[in-house]
Amino acid sequence: MLDLKRQYSPLQQELLEAVGRVLDTQQFILGEPVAVFEKSAAEQLGVAHALGCSSGTDALWLALAAAGIGPVDAVITTPFSFFASVSAILRAGATPVLADIDPATFNLDPAAVENLLDGPLGKQIRAVLPVHLYGQPAAADFFRRIAREPALTVIEDAAQAWGAESGGVKAGGLGHVAAFSFYPTKNLSAAGDAGMVTTNSDEIAERVKMLRQHGMRRRYNHDEIGWNARMDGFQGAILSVKLKYIAAWTDARRVVAERYHELFTAAGLAEAGPYPTRGIVLPHQVPGTRHVWHQYVIRTPRRDELREFLTARKIGSEIYYPVPLHLQEALKPLGYKEGDFPEAERAAKEVLALPIFPELREDEQQTVVAAIAEFLS
Ligand SMILES: Cc1ncc(COP(=O)(O)O)c(C=O)c1O
Repeated sequence: MLDLKRQYSPLQQELLEAVGRVLDTQQFILGEPVAVFEKSAAEQLGVAHALGCSSGTDALWLALAAAGIGPVDAVITTPFSFFASVSAILRAGATPVLADIDPATFNLDPAAVENLLDGPLGKQIRAVLPVHLYGQPAAADFFRRIAREPALTVIEDAAQAWGAESGGVKAGGLGHVAAFSFYPTKNLSAAGDAGMVTTNSDEIAERVKMLRQHGMRRRYNHDEIGWNARMDGFQGAILSVKLKYIAAWTDARRVVAERYHELFTAAGLAEAGPYPTRGIVLPHQVPGTRHVWHQYVIRTPRRDELREFLTARKIGSEIYYPVPLHLQEALKPLGYKEGDFPEAERAAKEVLALPIFPELREDEQQTVVAAIAEFLS
């Protein structure tokens, strides 16, 4: 699925030197290495503030808490994402309200969001949390429009979307505040857990800084209940090195995605979407957006059989995500049931992520496509 060693090998010396410098300064938590990364990250994303923290999950919680979302507030998000998109809302003390996805992009369906905003819960809804799933921005025009409503905060879950764009604006600057993850499998990855909050709001940025340090503005004076959610110096140093290469890696991912598209189309396997009948539906790219291909996800009706077939041939694949969030045991108290979000439920049965990373070779892609052709024949 992903061979991180191919990224590490050419960078080994540079990374070891960066880690060595942190050891020399003995600044292990926040400090200079994180400040340097934050400055370059903000510049690259075109946002006023980028604040390093301990994980993408903590970044989501910090974004929500810093935006003032808490008990009595409701937050709209998607049932088709990683668990943290919903659990962070609960951690902030608020109530997640789910809306179904668009079957072509797997991202929140603007019409479903609009229905909730116009419905009986409308007044309680204080925020909307779109997830840029697989690296493609969620309906950015729509979310930018609702971000202009004074009563609503738009919080991007950009964990999978470093460098993604819509209308020339990068993810991280499309809403009021955004959360990134640098989990080791992400496009821009740390050597452990790390995350970041971005915002153009001075006020939110100031609150994130306070909340990630136990609510401290002045040492040992706690203004609010924050948490320990700081970034390690090692992670800041490593991310600063990788930040120099991420644009080239993203370009390489886009080449890999384009090549899959060509190979599948040439093999006559691609069907018109959004639902597959016998073959496979290739990922849909929304015009005007720049997809960064965190995942290359096809849809196919005999997904589990295909996955077994690929596994037997030592070809990696993964299911993101096999159980929609409204059907998770831990989220039963939200009161949802099977059938509530048919698009998310169907996607969970049909999606399959294929190997994609910048260093993936053409012959390896040909092997993947040939195996899928063999299965379907
Ligand atoms: C969409 C999404 N949101 C949130 C997270 C949480 O990030 P982390 O694993 O860094 O806590 C992830 C990554 O795992 C993710 O993919």
